[in-house]
Amino acid sequence: MIEVGEDGRTWLLSGPTSGYALRLTDRDELLHLHWGPRITLADAEALAAQPLPAERSFESRLDGHEEYPVEGGRRFVRPALSVRGAGVRGSEWRFAEAATEREELRLHFTDAVHRLSITLVYRTRGDVIERFAVLRHDGPADAPALELLRADSATWTLPARDQWRLSQLHGRWAAESRLVRADLTYGEQVIGSRRGHTGHQHLPWVALDAEGATEEHGEVYGCALAWSGSWRICVGRLPDGTVQITGGQGHDDSGQELLAPGAQVVTPVFAGLWSDGGFGGASRAWHAYQRAHVIPDAAEPRPVLYNSWEATRFDISEEQQRTLAGKAAALGVELFVVDDGWFGRRVSDRAGLGDWTPAPDRFPGGLKPLADEVHALGMRFGIWVEPEMVNPDSDLYRAHPDWVQHQPGRERTEFRNQLVLNLAREDVREHLWEQLDALLSSAPIDYVKWDFNRCFSDAGWPGEPYPQRIWNAHVHALYGLLDRLRAAHPAVAFESCSGGGGRVDLGILSRTDQVWTSDNTDPLDRLAVQHGFGQLHPARVMAAWVTDSPNTQLNGRVSTLRFRFVSALAGVLGIGGDLTRWSAEELAEAADWVTLYKEIRPVVQLGDLHRLRPPSEPLSAIQYVHGDETVVLAWLRAQSYGEEPPRLRLKGLDPTAAYVCQDTGKTHRGAVLLHHGLRTGLRGDLDAAVFRFRRV
Ligand code: GLA
Repeated sequence: MIEVGEDGRTWLLSGPTSGYALRLTDRDELLHLHWGPRITLADAEALAAQPLPAERSFESRLDGHEEYPVEGGRRFVRPALSVRGAGVRGSEWRFAEAATEREELRLHFTDAVHRLSITLVYRTRGDVIERFAVLRHDGPADAPALELLRADSATWTLPARDQWRLSQLHGRWAAESRLVRADLTYGEQVIGSRRGHTGHQHLPWVALDAEGATEEHGEVYGCALAWSGSWRICVGRLPDGTVQITGGQGHDDSGQELLAPGAQVVTPVFAGLWSDGGFGGASRAWHAYQRAHVIPDAAEPRPVLYNSWEATRFDISEEQQRTLAGKAAALGVELFVVDDGWFGRRVSDRAGLGDWTPAPDRFPGGLKPLADEVHALGMRFGIWVEPEMVNPDSDLYRAHPDWVQHQPGRERTEFRNQLVLNLAREDVREHLWEQLDALLSSAPIDYVKWDFNRCFSDAGWPGEPYPQRIWNAHVHALYGLLDRLRAAHPAVAFESCSGGGGRVDLGILSRTDQVWTSDNTDPLDRLAVQHGFGQLHPARVMAAWVTDSPNTQLNGRVSTLRFRFVSALAGVLGIGGDLTRWSAEELAEAADWVTLYKEIRPVVQLGDLHRLRPPSEPLSAIQYVHGDETVVLAWLRAQSYGEEPPRLRLKGLDPTAAYVCQDTGKTHRGAVLLHHGLRTGLRGDLDAAVFRFRRV
């Protein structure tokens, strides 16, 4: 809901529990008034009546108070907007008009010198507010282009508090989204990606709490960026203690754009959430927001998949895939995915990327015979692609060596023997569309795992003037391709992968159905990765595979099938082991786990997540609650001194209700589960269990 003050210059945006207010002064300064619990319009007006601090020679009265600080004038904070016109830098705007619809507020400003129109957009989505900016060159056709040196999506301002704590999700390949939390000091802390994709190093998210929030209590502010290219979020603590969070596309100068007369740039959404339910409440609100407003068809649970990558690597054949498909179907798998190696001369990572036609030696009749067989087995059929890349050893590269990002006269840097296609080029985009559309039309393909296995390093476009559009245009081209493919093949689901979790953000999630969380499938390492991932993103998109033991991919850890399954049951279950080497007992056990997963799937994928104990503890556990049903997943890393692991105090239950355990048939009192807890019976090292309860 959006309310407007009597003079039309104060706005109050209200979510179910939260409020956000801003005020336009008579000098057209757009000031931040409030972000926090719900307030009334009268409260907002009272805040608006409070004068700004007096100006002193070394301090600006505006710093820390503006909704979208621009470069220039009496400001020393990090500008969200920095523009260079013909010989003039910075911005000075006049207010033009405001437009409000039920859930959207648009504030229009104009800079007369640049002939730049600046629109700040706010949308309420429950307690999440989506913000972005639209910048348009309104000058005559023969006016010089404007250089957008920086155009952030939004600046978020937090209330004054004595001390703030910053939570972030850091990582690297095979160790993504690990949560760290530390006091915020004065100055600026910058996270981001200079890599052309979201990156494994940070999820584009921060959370701040000031008064020692816990998992279930306290105020938490969070901001998350919906962008899948290079990005930057800056958390700044100003001299007076105020915190501002500024974020948007591009890092350093990679986001710069030339804005021609008549052209406009729409920044990605930078979403903000206030919650007073602690870190757990904030996560549940983020999850609900993504299921309701971001993820396509989020009410539909995702199928159990099989993927042979870890089992076969590049050594694949139609016959072997048929054998695996038969074994997977017998386990109850619902979606069979052929990973890398089915196309071109792709027998290793040295060749074939770019040639998206089935390898005649491995799939002589194309993909259709295998897809038909997979369908006959009652499963859906999926394939792996990496469309934005090319190996120098490929027909595509031999035909179009100029289609890759490169700097003239310099080395074309390879990672994993591959180069990045320049998707800013129309011909490249059109080629990819034709190839992928033909591929999806050539066989009954239901699922595409879309990978991205190297970062940008030579992001140049010979012959194009600087600033080159290559960085942002690549992401728009990727989004455009996905949108076009989804429209033309509406039954096909897409998975975002980038060497595991290198491209996970609200932007890609609005056009993919799930993400590959990490190449690390070790079930214990995964608990930490999933703990971080779930701070922001819901289980509904978090793909998790059960693979072989010892873990062949990374660390050689040995774990039981039980432990591996219970770890993977926390997300969208997949199986990625070499089923031809699993014993009859293992296959039978796996089939039982898949059956169990299908029963708990709506609770896991669509329910509310409660983190009971973090994976840093010897005993860790999570709980999902969906209607009358609840599922607890518990993992014991190591038992010490023969002591019984602590009881798990459940959450989200009705203390006055009774709950029947679906495995033992025993009835438990809600109040007892909440206040005294559940005995897990876990023992030894790497033990795990699932508990299912239904309200009586
Ligand atoms: C990436 C993905 C893996 C697999 C390989 C194939 O590393 O993360 O899951 O698809 O590529 O080359």
